[in-house]
Amino acid sequence: MWSSAGKRVMMRYLSQRYCTVPVLNQVTHSLPKSVRIVEVGPRDGLQNEKVHVATDVKIEMVNLLSNSGIKDIEVTSFVSPKWIPQLSDSSEVCDRIQRKPGINYSALTPNIQGYKSAQKAKVNQVAIFAAASESFTKKNINCSIKESLERFEPVCRAAKEDNVPVRGYVSCMIACPYEGKVSSAKVAQVARSLYEMGCCEISLGDTIGVGTPSEIQRVIAEVAKHVPVEKLAIHCHDTYGQALANIYAALQMGVSIVDASVAGLGGCPYAAGASGNVATEDVVYMLNGLGIKCGVDLQQLTSVGKYICKHLGRPSGSKVSQALSSSL
Ligand code: HMG
Ligand code: MG
Repeated sequence: MWSSAGKRVMMRYLSQRYCTVPVLNQVTHSLPKSVRIVEVGPRDGLQNEKVHVATDVKIEMVNLLSNSGIKDIEVTSFVSPKWIPQLSDSSEVCDRIQRKPGINYSALTPNIQGYKSAQKAKVNQVAIFAAASESFTKKNINCSIKESLERFEPVCRAAKEDNVPVRGYVSCMIACPYEGKVSSAKVAQVARSLYEMGCCEISLGDTIGVGTPSEIQRVIAEVAKHVPVEKLAIHCHDTYGQALANIYAALQMGVSIVDASVAGLGGCPYAAGASGNVATEDVVYMLNGLGIKCGVDLQQLTSVGKYICKHLGRPSGSKVSQALSSSL
């Protein structure tokens, strides 16, 4: 639930938006022929869970995902266990998953300490995570945007030496839970810094899920002036039910990397009230309908969602999974 202060920020954001968002007239591309899905469920999905999830369950979740055709799995985070106790078993999870050739098993690393642990755990890729809002950065990783970029530099340098690709995140691409509206110029500036630092791709996060398609396209157009659009990913939380529409809008702009979380799990502990990510099952269903290849087996994926939801004791957040279960 939103706090009353959070609600005030959001209401202000929504009222500003009605006044200031022009009807979009961006140049759109034809839809991509294929999309790479980055499954963030084991990390984003489980980092905010109140229910204790056993290490064995996390490992089985990753193993099941590995059988679904997904090629990029964000397994966990190497962050402070005081801040995110839910993922304090990150080394053990990475040690015990059954790795399949051709799959990228990645983890979040906020600083060089996290990078060293991730490297010991033999992840194939790491992700550094910045934001376009000062307040969110402070709450999330306890520093300013400038300091965060300084902390990421040694991570990128070390990863380059080790030949480990680094993904960059920019949270709050539309709005911040503490500051409201975020300028697209700031999103572009942070994205550019991460790209210049050596990130192989930049994932733009609508962290609190308030964006709508024209806003998403406007931000992508701004960022694409500095980072090639084929290096951009879209990461949509679904708080206002706009995630699929926003992803479609991003595809129209030439984006072909989509983050999603099985069963729609997810949320950031430092973005109270924001709901889960878009459900991977729903993204795959939409892509199938559009004739866009993603190489994911929807039935297998649905069974992963059922598996993890059983352990969390709640129904799947995926509409597609719900519909398939009631054999519609
Ligand atoms: P800090 O307290 O400022 O760090 O936290 P510090 O350097 O002062 O160190 C304090 C303690 O933390 C020390 O331990 C360090 O060893 C330890 P102590 O001496 O007190 O026992 N520490 C670490 N331990 C393990 N791994 C590390 C590490 N670094 C320091 N890497 C820090 C700074 C970044 C560590 C902290 O703020 C943190 O862990 N934050 C986690 C934030 C997080 O994971 N947020 C959720 C992910 S972001 C997200 O969800 C958005 C995204 O999905 C995109 C979107 O939706 O927009 C990606
Ligand atoms: Mg997220």
